[in-house]
Amino acid sequence: MKQLAPSILSADFKNLEQQIRAVEIGGADIIHCDIMDGQFVPNITFGPLIVSAVNSITELPIDVHLMIKTPEKRISDFVKAGANFITVHYEEVIHLDRLLNQIKEYGIKAGVVINPATPVELLLPVLHLADIILVMSVNPGFGGQSFLNYTLNKVEWLFEKRTENNFGYKIEIDGGINKETIVKASDAGCDIFVAGSAVFKTKNITASTTELKNLIF
Ligand code: DX5
Ligand code: ZN
Repeated sequence: MKQLAPSILSADFKNLEQQIRAVEIGGADIIHCDIMDGQFVPNITFGPLIVSAVNSITELPIDVHLMIKTPEKRISDFVKAGANFITVHYEEVIHLDRLLNQIKEYGIKAGVVINPATPVELLLPVLHLADIILVMSVNPGFGGQSFLNYTLNKVEWLFEKRTENNFGYKIEIDGGINKETIVKASDAGCDIFVAGSAVFKTKNITASTTELKNLIF
């Protein structure tokens, strides 16, 4: 089953509960939380306190995308806050094998994220360890950017490698997902689709969620 993961980065934080309710009614499967520290990426967002608030609002799984320096120091904080998946950037982690195992030891799912400019083949040694591979289809840091088409080649490669080797990871895509690009990403083999502005920066959040959900198959 393919899943839609609205990113609250583009939500109206003064009405967070209402906004999460709107995506739940629309058929959202996962809530995506973008954690940015102003170091690994230029922007600053929020930390475990808000993730914990999200956890108290919804029963949906929480997908924590860490765009921070030294993510290994923060795993337990986000686990305590209620993260069900934690993804860490390949570009920031020196001991990736160790960190994926550490995340899984908490009993949650562990994933690796790659930036648009990072070759996907670099992940080959850890593919068997990952529950999720998240392909960035924009340069991380901000919502509302345009989808980079060339990143779909990485999705196709991940899909092939999974079939060839019987790996268990889900393929997730993040950035610039809208009514057009979600279809391309689905065709390329994605399982989980993150969408921020295409959900929250629209007039009817529930209807936009349902519309995107109906485009993935
Ligand atoms: C970007 C974040 C994304 C962001 C996507 O660094 O990782 O999750 O919220 O926003 P849109 O869907 O507007 O590109
Ligand atoms: Zn994200």
